[in-house]
Formats: sequence, structure tokens, C-alpha cells
Amino acid sequence: MTLKKPVISADEAARLVKDGDTVGMQGSGGGVSEPTALIAALRRRYDAEQCPKNLTLMHATGLGDKQGGCGTDLLAVQGLVKRDIAGHLAMAPVMGKMIQDNQIECYNLPQGVISQLFTAIGARKPGVITKTGLGTFVDPRIEGGKMNKITQEDLVEVLNLKGEQWLFYPSQPVHVAFIRGTRADEQGNISSDQEGSILEGIGIAQAAKASGGVVIAQVKYTVKDGEILPHNVTIPSTMVDYIVVDPAQKQTCLFEYDPSISGEKPVKLAEMPPEPLSIKKVIGLRAARELHEGYVVNLGVGIPDQVAAVASESGMVDRLTFTLEHGIIGGKPAAGVIFGVSHNPRAIISEMEQFNFYDGGGLDIAFLGMAETDRMGNVNVSKVGNLLSGCGGFINITQNAKRVVFCGTLTAKGLKCKVGDGKLTIEQEGAVPKFVENVSQITFSGAYAAQVGQEVLFVTERAVFTLGEKGLTLVEIAPGVDLQKDVLDQMRFAPAVSPDLKLMDTSLFTE
Ligand SMILES: CC(C)(COP(=O)(O)OP(=O)(O)OC[C@H]1O[C@@H](n2cnc3c(N)ncnc32)[C@H](O)[C@@H]1OP(=O)(O)O)[C@@H](O)C(=O)NCCC(=O)NCCS
Repeated sequence: MTLKKPVISADEAARLVKDGDTVGMQGSGGGVSEPTALIAALRRRYDAEQCPKNLTLMHATGLGDKQGGCGTDLLAVQGLVKRDIAGHLAMAPVMGKMIQDNQIECYNLPQGVISQLFTAIGARKPGVITKTGLGTFVDPRIEGGKMNKITQEDLVEVLNLKGEQWLFYPSQPVHVAFIRGTRADEQGNISSDQEGSILEGIGIAQAAKASGGVVIAQVKYTVKDGEILPHNVTIPSTMVDYIVVDPAQKQTCLFEYDPSISGEKPVKLAEMPPEPLSIKKVIGLRAARELHEGYVVNLGVGIPDQVAAVASESGMVDRLTFTLEHGIIGGKPAAGVIFGVSHNPRAIISEMEQFNFYDGGGLDIAFLGMAETDRMGNVNVSKVGNLLSGCGGFINITQNAKRVVFCGTLTAKGLKCKVGDGKLTIEQEGAVPKFVENVSQITFSGAYAAQVGQEVLFVTERAVFTLGEKGLTLVEIAPGVDLQKDVLDQMRFAPAVSPDLKLMDTSLFTE
């Protein structure tokens, strides 16, 4: 079949990238919706020719599988990349190490902002103006999203508009769009029918078009005109310059194709094996008590996985709507590196549209992980010691959801507990306290939350805290633990203790 749109090889596509270009890349963790063949070809070209050099990468989510099998780690070599403008970083540890070693400049900006920025660039607007990021490390009065000391240029500004403060994220050209779908018809219309998400592919394509750049779409199959119904086109041919066919394209880098993730064939969630009782499950069970029928919910990476697990075990999953910032509505979010797709999604929309909904206050509740929390309720997940995660959707979600529940253990690194018989027994304390005097990076601003009157809860395996204007208040402790020795002595600040301190429900600690 001859396509009317030029079909080129991945290696030919890599030759379209010039020194100093900004490459907008679609994809999320685990190779989901990622044009891996294009990224790998870029690396091959660089290894062979030391060209192109000094690229800027721009991607809303974290691309990679933590093993170097896909994503931006494929490009982690001195000279190829000068700057990484990323929503999330944890999936690409080799690139993360180069950033920490000051070999690559890095801006970590909110995932929603980067995805919306692609649309703004596409429409030749000046940039994104939003409150998202105010009071966090992205705010230029704090760190401006700069992740190391060689990152100097200011990419974020404070704006005063009609008496209110906003953050301004200016537009910049995108010279190359690396995007992906499942099928291309002869005209070059792209569908995403076997993908777990469509992410910001159309936004990146529009940004490159408006910048006079080139749009290269990787697909698995080509089909005749008419085989993709107009409603199923996710990126129209008008926004595509070249097609690259990769018959080896997998839905994720973990497996070939799971039809429950594209929504083609639902799986019976009740038949998924239940999670064994553990401290992480206790946190999930306690946090899930905050769910109410009809809620629209977002779940972050890490321990919040457990909220999805317990909600599906109890059947609650059918009475609320889990969503993921990647554009997924309904179903049960998948755990691990493929975070960002769900089993049995009801709808898959673009990431930009999902973030518009989130920024507009569409979430009733959000459950997020936490690495460090301080007295004032600031939370750090983005940069902890030598763990460079990035914020992902965390800032958009936590600043805009009506209620936020942070889920995490009270201490990290080596915590061992026994859960059963209605109580918690701490067998070995974690070496690192997670409730610290000052967080090392502000991914969530407790002061901003207090200012906007947001309802915030911190759920750990042994204690539950609320957030108010004066900071954290301890409101519940686990049966079996000692308030002073196991809770207060394991925190690096003294929280207020509610006069009405309650025991966490013993059923949470019972198999
Ligand atoms: C912060 C984050 C790493 C916590 O992960 P988690 O699995 O929920 O929680 P854990 O406490 O078990 O942390 C996992 C590991 O991180 C490390 N860690 C967590 N907190 C730490 C701290 N304060 N200091 C050092 N290491 C820490 C530890 O190695 C820990 O495992 P271990 O205690 O078994 O050694 C996780 O929530 C994250 O990556 N967040 C990123 C941003 C985000 O949430 N985005 C959501 C939208 S995309």
C-alpha cells in the first residue's frame, strides 16, 4: 500500500533532527504511547556520527522503565542532550544521574503545565498563565523548577494580573515532534486504538507545526483510507509530516498488548488476586475510608496504588470514578512503571483536557505519595536525597483537588512492621524519618493549601494528621503503638496533638 504521507524509516527520521533542536516527545512510564523506535534511532545516529548535539528534550511525563529499555535514558549520553524540560524524571535514572552530576540542564515543571504549554505554543499564544506552581519549588521566588546548579536561565515568571498573583510559563519553539499512534491511514491520519493513553500527542504536533518544525508519527500498522473512522482519529493528517512504521511496537515495554488497558476487552477486576495485608495496605485501607460514592478521584504513584487495590477488592471501584492525569477516566489504575494507564478505562482523553478539568477543580479527592513532610504541611516528593523523581502531575493535582490525602509510611529505609490481630507492631524502625523539620524541596505548599482552605489529610500506617493554618495535628494513632516512642519520637518536629485523639479502626489491622 502506498501512503500519500511520506513513510520513512526511524533512521531517516533521526536525520531530520538538527543540532540544538527542541524535541517534543510523547510517552509516559513503561513505554506507554512512546515512540521508542524514533528515540532509539536518534541515539543510534548520535553513536555513529556524534550528531545531532545539544538537544533540548521537552516531555510532560517521565519516559522510561527505570531499566534503560526505553524513554529518555536511551538519550542519556554526554553531548546529545543539553537540556531536559520534564514533568517527571524517576523513570530515567541514568538521565537523572547526569542531571544530578550537572551534565545536563534540567527544569522540572508541572506535568499539566508542560502539556498545556504544547497547546499554547501550537496556538502561538505567549505561554501558560496559571496559579499551578505558586508557593512550590517551581515558583521563581523559590527554585524556578531548576533541578541543578548549571540550570540558570529563568523559565518561570510571577505575573500580577488584576490584583492576583499568577505564574507565567512562556512559550518556546518546538522544532521536532516525536509522537505515536497505533495505525496510520494513507492520508496520514493517526488512530490510537491499541494505546493505553493518547497523552499530549496532538499538542506536541501542533506546537511543532506552529514553530515551523517537523512532525514524525510512529505507528504499528498502516491501513487503507476509510478504515479509521473520523471520530477515532487522534492526530489528523494535517498535523503530521512523516510516518514511521514499527511493526515491533508494543503497547508497553513490559508486554505486547493487554486489551483491558486499551479498553478493547475488559477484565473482571473482582478476579484479580487480593493484596496481602501489609503496612502499605493498611495505609490504603485507611485512606480509602475517605472515599464517598460518586467521587471523581485521582491516584498518584507509590502507596496510593493500594487505594485502587482495596477499592477494587471491596467493590467500591464501581461506585466512584478513578481518573489519571494522563487522560484516563474510569477503571482501575495499573501499578508500577506503567502508572498512567488503567484496566477497563471508560474514556481516554488528551492529557491537556484532563488537566484543564483538574485545574478547574474537577477532582473531589486525590491520594498522593509523600517522601518528606514538615511542620507546616509542606510535602516533598520531587527531590529526596539522591532520589530524583520530579513532580509529575502532583502539583496540578494537589493544588486543585477539593480534598487531598497524602499516603506514606512515617519512616523510610528499613521499616519492618507486623500487622494482624487488630494491631500494629513495629519490629524495626525505618532509618530515615519522613516527618522532618524542613522539607528539602516544596512540591506541595502547606501555606498555599491553608490559604485556599483545602482539606488535607496525612495517612501513615501508625498515625493520621490533619492540616490547618498552624500546621499538622495528630488525630489518630494505630492500636498497638506508643504515642511518644513510636510516633512523636520518630518525627523531627512536634505536631499539635488533638485533644480528641482517636485509635485507628482495629479492623484495618485485621486480615
Ligand atoms: C515520593 C514517592 C517516591 C514515595 O513512594 P512510595 O512508594 O509511595 O513510598 P515509600 O515511602 O515506600 O517510598 C519508596 C522509597 O522511596 C525512598 N524514600 C521515601 N521517602 C524517603 C525519604 N524521606 N528519604 C529517603 N528515601 C526515601 C525509600 O527508598 C522508599 O523505600 P524504602 O523505605 O522501602 O527504602 C512517590 O510517591 C513518588 O515517586 N512520587 C512522585 C511524584 C508523584 O506522586 N507524582 C504523581 C503524579 S505523576
